[in-house]
Amino acid sequence: MNPASNLILVGPMGAGKSCIGRRLAERYGLRLADADREIEQRTGTSVATIFECEGEAGFRARERATLAELLAGEGLLLATGGGAVLDPDNRALLRERGYVVHLHVSVDQQLERLARDRTRPLLARGDREQVLRELSEQRAPLYAQVADLRFDTGSMTAADAAAHLADEL
Ligand code: S3P
Repeated sequence: MNPASNLILVGPMGAGKSCIGRRLAERYGLRLADADREIEQRTGTSVATIFECEGEAGFRARERATLAELLAGEGLLLATGGGAVLDPDNRALLRERGYVVHLHVSVDQQLERLARDRTRPLLARGDREQVLRELSEQRAPLYAQVADLRFDTGSMTAADAAAHLADEL
């Protein structure tokens, strides 16, 4: 990894992008940015409300603009939203502007970690397990396309995952 550039985490909901990202940012002295939280700050509302009022397309447009703005700089640890890789322009931007780590997690682990989560609108679209399996099938090749490194978080805590991942960087 080139420490002067950005370190970017991609991967599905519940992979630990925000929690692992916080620890890696500290370790490497990078400025932490979480794309979803940035969008919420800019709009003054939640991701769930944006989905409700503007639809997924509205959220994706905001996500695209926010990623472009954040990645104009350097020295950032960026935790992206799970669907950031859907847009081909985003994929090109991520590849161009940083070292990209795909945090992989199994659907079973996701179900466990997200069991009490009510903030993610995609999970409300149907049976959670089916939703997560479909998203995983659809997105796995996209994460692979952008990633410089794939890291399996397994059942590790965020602290352990960050420490092990740092060994691989
Ligand atoms: C999404 C993941 C969420 C958030 C939005 C859509 C997705 O981010 O961006 O709910 O499409 O997988 P996290 O991956 O941080 O949960």
